[in-house]
Amino acid sequence: MQIKQTSNSRKGFFISFEGGEGVGKSTQIDLLKKDLINKQFNVVSTREPGGTKEAEKLRKFLVTGDKKAWDPCSETLIFNAIRREHINKIILPAIEDGAVVLCDRFIDSTIVYQGLVGNVSEKDLLDLHRKYCYDLYPDITFFLDLSPQKGLNRALKRQNTIEDRFENLGINYHQKILNGFYNLQKRNPNRIIRINAEKSKEVISSEISSFTKRLLNIND
Ligand code: TMP
Repeated sequence: MQIKQTSNSRKGFFISFEGGEGVGKSTQIDLLKKDLINKQFNVVSTREPGGTKEAEKLRKFLVTGDKKAWDPCSETLIFNAIRREHINKIILPAIEDGAVVLCDRFIDSTIVYQGLVGNVSEKDLLDLHRKYCYDLYPDITFFLDLSPQKGLNRALKRQNTIEDRFENLGINYHQKILNGFYNLQKRNPNRIIRINAEKSKEVISSEISSFTKRLLNIND
């Protein structure tokens, strides 16, 4: 099934960043944010699971603790509750205000982690998204493609090692996650842009910046 393309009648823009663990999403979001602010854009950066005060509290339960703490169906319901609040309180108001929203993970993570790898039916996931999350899709999604072993090494070296529930699921699980993102990207080549995240952060950032300029109609 191909995931819906976006409407282009929005006042602002919605850009998401996806990939496995430790692929450098937050570094790239910070770099793009600085660049866009320098160009006088109003930028809102946010993340899932999280984004709102309440969801940041729920995040803790999802990303810490025992790897079997939630099954993929329960996770799906919590991620959707978080996403609905996030869309209502942060994402849609910012887009309506003309901002560029940079979001660390969104629906594609649910399709890959809970769906393609967790075996929750994709039809159910897309139905939930349509019913409770306004069928909202990013204008563009950057999928940072890095070898799972490198990403996990990086993620587990972070200071915040308490957030390791998904990291502890092992290399085979994370290889499936990467394959899931390849699958999704192939089915949505116009929206999801694969970025080789093995390159230096400067090269990655300049690739992301050139796609973003095209989306935002920036000529410089
Ligand atoms: P992060 O460490 O990149 O912030 O992501 C937190 C974890 O949550 C990550 O391992 C992926 C997982 N996740 C899902 O399983 N489904 C989702 O819908 C989202 C948004 C995240």
